[in-house]
Amino acid sequence: DAEKQAYKERIKVLLREKNAVLVAHYYTDPEIQALAEETNGCVADSLEMARFGRDHQADTLIVAGVKFMGETSKILSPNKKVLMPTLEATCSLDLGCPVDEFSEFCDAHPDHTVVVYANTSAAVKARADWVVTSSIALEIVEHLDSEGKKIIWGPDRHLGSYIQKQTGADMLMWQGACVVHDEFKAKALANLKQQYPDAAVLVHPESPQNIVEMADAVGSTSQLIAASQKMDNETFIVATDRGIFYKMQQLAPEKTFIEAPTGGNGATCRSCAHCPWMAMNGLQAIESALTDGSGHEIFVDEALRHKALIPLDRMLDFAQ
Ligand code: 13P
Ligand code: SF4
Repeated sequence: DAEKQAYKERIKVLLREKNAVLVAHYYTDPEIQALAEETNGCVADSLEMARFGRDHQADTLIVAGVKFMGETSKILSPNKKVLMPTLEATCSLDLGCPVDEFSEFCDAHPDHTVVVYANTSAAVKARADWVVTSSIALEIVEHLDSEGKKIIWGPDRHLGSYIQKQTGADMLMWQGACVVHDEFKAKALANLKQQYPDAAVLVHPESPQNIVEMADAVGSTSQLIAASQKMDNETFIVATDRGIFYKMQQLAPEKTFIEAPTGGNGATCRSCAHCPWMAMNGLQAIESALTDGSGHEIFVDEALRHKALIPLDRMLDFAQ
């Protein structure tokens, strides 16, 4: 509508004026993803967002996603200003992994290599030997296992168990979960599969094991999007945040995408799988961040940043 269009136009001017670029995650609302595309920013998974921000010439990155994504950008680009539409946008995995408790857990197992998911605070990353995102986690754990390393994994227990099953690695798990993916229900999914017998099931590995077991493809957001293009099926049932449908539908307009059910007791709940924190990234919040950066800027303590950069760079070097 007209009001949204006016916001978009003002944001475009501000981006140019401030030499800023919009970096958005696939789970943000479709209008935010479209705006990132229209302004030559990027729409990506958490690994690619980190790389794009680091390599871009802009003076300012405006990161539409959740806080750990802004922090990762700042760790990699200390000389850029990193703004977020709101600093309130967190993640249940980050919240469920406080650094003091996690450090104690690590200290109790000093012979283990500490591997943490990118969905953590800068302080937790600083305590880790490796940072991984879901698109590279499997390969990195495979590599560590081949070197005979025992692993502490945190914080997502479902992603951790999936990787453990795939690799057979020796892994001690932190018991975190994603509030969005944890809600997918196997019984309701089985019912939906019966309704659409030719549909392929695409699952993000933050989902519970019984959902992952029903998948035709398991992977990070970018890997699921690639699978939806590559596979011949006409219909897909997708177990991840519904923000991803924007890109899937854009790349394969002739295909049909259906949300995996999140309701309990066999009931289905459509449109439930949407991260409440990703949803905070609205047009108004972006405009406000670009107009008056105060209260929107990400700062990371310099000593902490140096420590967190080591495991992050390890991942980026490995991913090359
Ligand atoms: P990706 O790394 O797959 O983009 O996932 C990030 C995330 O927050 C998933 O819930
Ligand atoms: Fe965190 Fe889950 Fe939201 Fe991703 S979808 S940011 S893992 S709460």
